[in-house]
Amino acid sequence: MHVVPVASGKGGVGKSLLAANLAIALAQAGRRVVLADLDLGGSNLHLILGIRSLSGSIGSFLDAPREKITSVLNETGIPNLQFIPGDSEIPGLANLKVNQKRMLVRKLLSLEADYLIMDLGAGTGQTTLDFFLTSNHGIICTTPTPTATVSAYLFLKNAVFHILRNTTGSSGAGAEYVKGLFKDRGALRQVYLPEIARELDARDSEAGRAFRTALRRFRPRLVMNMLENPKDAEKINRLRRSAQQYLDLDLLHLGVVYRDDLQDTALASRLPIIRYKPSSILSQAVYRIADKMIQMEGEIEESAPDLEKIDDSFEAAENEAENDFDERMSYIEELLNTGALSTGDLVETIKSQHHEIAQLRKQVNLYRAKLVQAMKLGFKA
Ligand SMILES: Nc1ncnc2c1ncn2[C@@H]1O[C@H](COP(=O)(O)OP(=O)(O)O)[C@@H](O)[C@H]1O
Ligand SMILES: [Mg+2]
Repeated sequence: MHVVPVASGKGGVGKSLLAANLAIALAQAGRRVVLADLDLGGSNLHLILGIRSLSGSIGSFLDAPREKITSVLNETGIPNLQFIPGDSEIPGLANLKVNQKRMLVRKLLSLEADYLIMDLGAGTGQTTLDFFLTSNHGIICTTPTPTATVSAYLFLKNAVFHILRNTTGSSGAGAEYVKGLFKDRGALRQVYLPEIARELDARDSEAGRAFRTALRRFRPRLVMNMLENPKDAEKINRLRRSAQQYLDLDLLHLGVVYRDDLQDTALASRLPIIRYKPSSILSQAVYRIADKMIQMEGEIEESAPDLEKIDDSFEAAENEAENDFDERMSYIEELLNTGALSTGDLVETIKSQHHEIAQLRKQVNLYRAKLVQAMKLGFKA
């Protein structure tokens, strides 16, 4: 089975849209596909697919783990495509316990299908990374905006550090070196990956080799969505250069998708765009991506993920401050150095963040007014 997690870092870049329509395109090409909504905090795949009545979900499965996972498979009305709904209702699902996660991954991987497409949540949280790393060929979705680029890069960097920690084990000179690195987040930020690999080799050649092998196998595929003009496509190459240079990571370019206003109409009519209008720009882009994936089917080596690793990395990663501002700053530097971000982009980012801050301030003021009002009423009562 080809396991295809779809992640992004930033939300709202089109992961769910891509996951749903790609699943349909692959099913139409004759592949048996299971699409799983693993955005456990903000499930919306059923809306994109236009499925109204759902039976079972990831949440109901976790509540009754003895049930077969096939009991939460929903038919979609599309031949070859089955769907597992997520659960945005149950709080805490976004932070699954280790054994729940392992069980879920094990069951998902036991499904009989040609493709398992997993729509993941935003962010670089532990659960998202664990799901992403169940495959060496996950899709990372981004848009041409600087914030999305930075988020995608941050996601990839975290993934690579995850692999570093997972492959060096828990004892030995290599493990000690890596543990030391993770203790000192400041140092971790500054060294770049080829240097870490060299240091690791010097201390523990076996660990070094294991890491290099794992990293060579790890080939995430990039999709850039919501392009406005052809010049935007250039940005994907710059992101690839940053990943190559600073993360020692070879990204595969899977395709670009233009912004397509028809998507809004499709959504309103409760049909996935690929069914609503197969000839639209957006649908055609999805078909191209699906074709490319089908072409690559023979080339890739699928290695079963090591479920034990989910446990190993858990504790360490819990200490990570994922939105550490300093860390973000160093990412920005790496992106600036390779031209993935221009200073113009930075100006644009600052402007948009100023706008966000202003919006948040308005919201806070509104809430404050409401609170004051509620308190006044409370005193009267
Ligand atoms: N290429 C595109 N053209 C037009 N609208 C798009 C495109 N990609 C995504 N969208 C819209 O952007 C919004 C966010 O997409 P979604 O798939 O929910 O993002 P994510 O899953 O990454 O949070 C949705 O309203 C979706 O319809
Ligand atoms: Mg989504």
